[in-house]
Amino acid sequence: VEEVPFTTPLAIPPLAPSRVEPDGTRVFELTAQEGSMPFVDGAETRTWGFNGDYLGPTLRAERGERVAVEVTNELGEATSVHWHGMHLPPEMDGGPHQMVEPGETWRPTWEIDQPAATLWYHPHPHGETERHVYQGLAGLFLLDDPEAAPDLPSQYGVDDIPVIVQDKQFDDAGQLTLEENQSEPGVLGQTVMVNGTVGPFLGVSTERVRLRLLNGSTARTYSFGFDDGRRFQLVGTDGGLLPAPHETTDVRLSPGERAEIVVAVTPGEQVTLRSSEPDLGRVASSAAFGGEDTFDVLELRADTMLAPSPPVPDVLADVPRIKESEAGVTRDFTLAVRQINGRSMDPERIDEVVHEGQTEIWEVRSIDSLPHNFHIHDVQFQVLDIGGEPPPPELMGWKDTVYLEPQRDYRLIMRFEDFTDADSPYMFHCHLLRHEDEGLMGQFVVVGEGE
Ligand code: C2O
Repeated sequence: VEEVPFTTPLAIPPLAPSRVEPDGTRVFELTAQEGSMPFVDGAETRTWGFNGDYLGPTLRAERGERVAVEVTNELGEATSVHWHGMHLPPEMDGGPHQMVEPGETWRPTWEIDQPAATLWYHPHPHGETERHVYQGLAGLFLLDDPEAAPDLPSQYGVDDIPVIVQDKQFDDAGQLTLEENQSEPGVLGQTVMVNGTVGPFLGVSTERVRLRLLNGSTARTYSFGFDDGRRFQLVGTDGGLLPAPHETTDVRLSPGERAEIVVAVTPGEQVTLRSSEPDLGRVASSAAFGGEDTFDVLELRADTMLAPSPPVPDVLADVPRIKESEAGVTRDFTLAVRQINGRSMDPERIDEVVHEGQTEIWEVRSIDSLPHNFHIHDVQFQVLDIGGEPPPPELMGWKDTVYLEPQRDYRLIMRFEDFTDADSPYMFHCHLLRHEDEGLMGQFVVVGEGE
């Protein structure tokens, strides 16, 4: 990874405007379009974005609200938009069965009924997800719950900052490429950007700042911390806040995972968010997968006068543990190369039939020497145990994506509720996007009790 000086103010994705229809539905508009960005000196890099040149606005809605998103496709090819981490009906999920053709508008609508969280959205076309996300189609979807809102920094763009981290590879003409110097799981880029900004710094005006970290890369796993090793509070993971803050020095995020952290700064100081050699577990060649890479990501520059911030509360959220005894079904998933349980993704095949109202344990294991993770649509799950051991504190909250250290059993527990449709599947897959595109994915449907 190239070290670049931190000379550009961090771009903050704008909050998406919305209108409220007479029946109370909050409506957002997203248009997928072509654009260009001055990522590298002397070149205009062709990009894609939603409502702009690169990435998309931050959508934000409250628990209990009905939302609709009008997704218009102004690209020259079909795409889709998936609401990663969202509990919603399968026809609204935006997977490969909900493609939006060029010139068309798709309008999914659903009611938000899940905890406050940092979710995100991105395309999910069959076999093309890596390319579409890599060109720039992604954004955050923040959920709020006014009835369960601990006192955390929450002024968007001031002390509550989106941090979408991506690594990119450019060809000689300064264009994004997925072809050069690729490692097996996909591109490990030499240029790291945050919210589309290369070499970003962030002016901090408050004693504490909350960073909503999203690994929006296609293949790279990060281990985020600070250059001086300072401790910070991990307050949230994929699907919501943790029961209590976890004080730590680093947090590992594989593609698709999120973490919310709160870090304290002192007046006038500079401190840098850094990614240090992520522990990938027993993969064949950790170095080839970025496991030996350390690089700086974002410089925080504290003002000489800082506005006070409340201390991080000791209790953040009620996250009742789902009990193993509640589970009526256990399923096994073994990941190897480009297959789950020996099969590659077939959009015409339903791999698992789940009954609504059931609690299930999904026992997931990678027997590969490559890095993989595991993402499940529709639900937020809890990690029951890993290799028979209780999960570490950072895996005690709601998750929708989990890194799989090879040769270890991850038992995930989840409840399938509310939405049934025997004809409309949800996906589960490795979120290393090339693996996903090349078949490391399956489909499940949720059906009613008697079906
Ligand atoms: Cu973020 Cu099926 O994906």
